[in-house]
Amino acid sequence: MSEPDVRVYEVGPRDGLQNEAAPIGTDAKLRFIELLADAGLREIEATSFVSPRAIPQLADADDLMARLERRDGVRYPVLVPNARGLERAEAAGADAVCVFTAASEAFTQHNINMSIAESIEAFGPVVVTARDRGWWSRGYVSTAFGCPYSGEVDEAAVVDVANRLLVLGVDEVSIGDTIGVAGPADVRRVLGALLAAGIGTERLAMHFHDTRGTALANVSAALELGIRCFDASTGGTGGCPYAPGAAGNLATEDLVYLLEREGLSHGVDLDRLLVAARHVSDTLARPLGTKVGQAGGWRLP
Ligand code: HMG
Ligand code: MG
Repeated sequence: MSEPDVRVYEVGPRDGLQNEAAPIGTDAKLRFIELLADAGLREIEATSFVSPRAIPQLADADDLMARLERRDGVRYPVLVPNARGLERAEAAGADAVCVFTAASEAFTQHNINMSIAESIEAFGPVVVTARDRGWWSRGYVSTAFGCPYSGEVDEAAVVDVANRLLVLGVDEVSIGDTIGVAGPADVRRVLGALLAAGIGTERLAMHFHDTRGTALANVSAALELGIRCFDASTGGTGGCPYAPGAAGNLATEDLVYLLEREGLSHGVDLDRLLVAARHVSDTLARPLGTKVGQAGGWRLP
């Protein structure tokens, strides 16, 4: 099968669920991941091996990963903040890991109780081990467009942290609008700085939260700058307990619909994706709030 024009990187089972207060059973999470793979998604961020006190909703990561039935050709990355997380991830059979820091000191401190410099130091051995094992790895740069604690973020800080992650050896960096404050001009400013610093589009993904409804406009701006990997959450859920004011991620169904209208291939079957989206809404016992989730795709009757 040929490579799609755009990689749709699904974060629903991880980012989408991590901030949900009511406990969600491991079976429902596994079913969600299965439905996402059925829909054609080839990168599904499955869970996080973080402190269960920090993210209680994902405290079942060991059990979930061990029980996950992997499909050929599907990557199931997991978040890992430190050596302990890596040990757990490896024991559970993970082979793709994401480390995560931010462009703002205040958010990094609240989220992982480290300075940015300490986080890079902590991730060094994680990324080296991942590379030694032949695993894929990604680094997140959160609050690239704004911080819930310190406000505006300078693009130079984003470039600096992205470069430090790439020097560690991650395969790509994902640039996060953690609280959903960016508009297209911000995307051009921040991405422009990353590209001007010599970071290739093939090493970059964009991670937009849709708090203020700007995520799809931001995707369009990033597409025009050559970005070909976008993070999204089926059902549009998401948020981080350490990012007050953040709402859901860009919904995968909204992203897929846009890509379709742009004539860009993505490998996802929208009808099947909506089955996965309805599973999320049933599991969370609330109506599906996404645009395409409500309207469906569009074709002549
Ligand atoms: P800490 O309290 O500074 O670390 O937490 P510690 O080493 O002192 O450990 C405290 C306790 O956690 C100890 O347990 C450790 O054993 C345990 P105790 O002895 O007190 O019972 N612990 C662990 N347990 C299991 N697995 C581990 C682990 N590590 C320590 N890996 C730490 C530091 C980083 C661990 C913590 O702050 C943490 O786990 N934070 C994770 C926060 C998180 O997951 N946030 C959401 C993901 S980021 C995000 O959503 C943004 C993103 O979507 C992009 C965007 O939107 O911008 C990616
Ligand atoms: Mg996020």
